[in-house]
Amino acid sequence: MQSTQQSQRRILALPDHLISQIAAGEVVERPSAVVKELLENALDAGASSITLRLEEGGIKRIAITDNGRGIPADQLPLAIARHATSKIASLEELENVLTLGFRGEALASIASVAVLSLTTRTAEAPHAWRIENGAVTPASGAQGTTVDVQDLYYNTPARRKFLKSEQTEFGHCAEVVRRIALARPDVTFSMSHNGKVVDHWAASAIDKRSATILGDAFATARIALDEMAGPLRLHGFIGLPTASKGRADAQYFYVNGRFVRDKLLTHAVRAAYQDVLHGDRYPSYVIALDLAPSLVDVNVHPSKIEVRFRDSRSVHQFVFHAVQRALAQTSATAHGSVPAPSTADVGTLAPQFGSARTVGMAASKAVLHKPLHSHLPTPARIIINLRERSLAGLRKRPPNMAPCSNRMKQINKGFPATSELNPTSKPTTNFL
Ligand SMILES: Nc1ncnc2c1ncn2[C@@H]1O[C@H](COP(=O)(O)OP(=O)(O)OP(=O)(O)O)[C@@H](O)[C@H]1O
Ligand SMILES: [Mg+2]
Repeated sequence: MQSTQQSQRRILALPDHLISQIAAGEVVERPSAVVKELLENALDAGASSITLRLEEGGIKRIAITDNGRGIPADQLPLAIARHATSKIASLEELENVLTLGFRGEALASIASVAVLSLTTRTAEAPHAWRIENGAVTPASGAQGTTVDVQDLYYNTPARRKFLKSEQTEFGHCAEVVRRIALARPDVTFSMSHNGKVVDHWAASAIDKRSATILGDAFATARIALDEMAGPLRLHGFIGLPTASKGRADAQYFYVNGRFVRDKLLTHAVRAAYQDVLHGDRYPSYVIALDLAPSLVDVNVHPSKIEVRFRDSRSVHQFVFHAVQRALAQTSATAHGSVPAPSTADVGTLAPQFGSARTVGMAASKAVLHKPLHSHLPTPARIIINLRERSLAGLRKRPPNMAPCSNRMKQINKGFPATSELNPTSKPTTNFL
């Protein structure tokens, strides 16, 4: 009976607000997703300073003010319409989109599940304009945009039930801000929660921003990394074993300036640390991979957190070897094979010491000659000890450890065969 009734129902095109609500389920998973979309918009608008005001973990309110270029009054209704964007105008541009990815429906999705108002002013406008409930009215305000999102999921109570406690939701929001602030140290970020300022990070360089956000343990035990191979560049900071943690919560990996949590990349880094880190410890790092946009698809996941590489195996190998060499470089430094850098100098490590490959070879030799190193500071000693153990392991392998070449095979297992990466395409750098 039921099925007969269903088969008689007419096929209807869904109204726009319902389509937006469906899309919102993917884009606006929780308050932190709103924070992410609004921050990306502010950065796309060229903001150099962004202020976030959150209430009740972002569930009650998320108001984000930027000093970017603003939106002309006549385009305001379009800004919150579905599939309206200033990012692309053609399929060709979609292929080459270099900004923070594209869906063109973030504001529309948010507006469909929360009370949204947007106040904006361009450099040319004599005053600001506000759009609220579809009406555009004059307003006051400086150049830039404020998007004010209140009462998330007020009209979809079923979704609201899935939200966690205020503190948990705030924690997710704060993590999104950290991810973006690390990618854009040149931008000032201020954040308040329930009227109290919780973070204020003035514009600075990546070494200072990462030290502020990841803390002293990372700031005093990290290695600068900068390697290129064909169209790939990997740069940033990786923590020494002393900066490792019991949880994987200090791992920031960026692809073309966007934070990603990608299994392939996480695996490559973890494998590179294999010889220097116990299995229950997680390395800390802030690293960026830059490559031609055509070699990576960033739109495979609604929140753009996963990526797909055209040649995933080459990317894995490149990341693995670059991180491994940088770790070896430190053990060489600790042996006096190369001058020891001060922590204040880490930003200039890579150019100062030339190719990491050469330094890595020096490291291996130094370790094989077993110099005395008990006078060295603890982080360096740990690396050397672990490295010695692993080199000894290569000479006399424990029964449960596969030979090095086999381990590399295991690492590569499961990834598609290598096809040559396009050597002519240039990497993009929008991190650091
Ligand atoms: N803070 C802002 N400052 C200036 N313009 C903005 C701002 N926020 C949104 N806009 C304008 O509104 C348009 C729509 O924004 P929306 O976030 O909905 O889509 P999008 O950013 O184009 O794509 P995506 O879905 O990937 O975020 C943007 O393309 C931009 O032109
Ligand atoms: Mg957007």
